[in-house]
Amino acid sequence: MKIKRINVYLTEEQVEQRVKELGAEISAVYGDEPVCLVCILKGSVFFTCELAKRMTCPVEVEFMSVSSYGAGISSSGVVRIVQDLGTSIEGKNVLVIEDIIDSGRTLSYLLENLKTRNPKSLRLCTLLDKPDRRVVDVPVDYVGFVIPDQFVVGYGLDYDQQYRNLPYIGFADIEE
Ligand code: IMP
Ligand code: MG
Repeated sequence: MKIKRINVYLTEEQVEQRVKELGAEISAVYGDEPVCLVCILKGSVFFTCELAKRMTCPVEVEFMSVSSYGAGISSSGVVRIVQDLGTSIEGKNVLVIEDIIDSGRTLSYLLENLKTRNPKSLRLCTLLDKPDRRVVDVPVDYVGFVIPDQFVVGYGLDYDQQYRNLPYIGFADIEE
């Protein structure tokens, strides 16, 4: 399978504007309290950086890598922690940053795992949400854009590790 064509769905300006809004909305919730942003590698890196820049509360950025996908476009259902957090989150306000929620399998596993580490609060922010594809229910606190059931690339999202660097989000036309 390879990508035939990418059609722009959300422009760089649209994404930037929405990230600004989310930054303001989330900052208002935490006020002066410190927040630990947990960036889920690799897809959320671009979003996490841009969102962090728009946040006004004290921010710590941590990384975690989980795998639930192979090189294809559908979730395997098997979630594995590839790289764990380098720090304890006990007693901290934790905001998990995800690029996209599709089946919900990755996040549902991850949230359960993080809960056992006793954070002060645990919330979830995703840039994109594909509710039509949900298999497992996940409580999402902040959503950038709700999108239809189509495969997207860009702004961190990949197809077989490519296209993450596109400044916009596009629908990928995949050739079987
Ligand atoms: P879930 O476990 O099915 O919710 O999968 C979430 C993960 O699948 C995301 O973090 C992405 O890495 C990947 N994913 C799901 N949909 C897409 C898409 O449309 N484009 C690129 N990656 C996707
Ligand atoms: Mg991916």
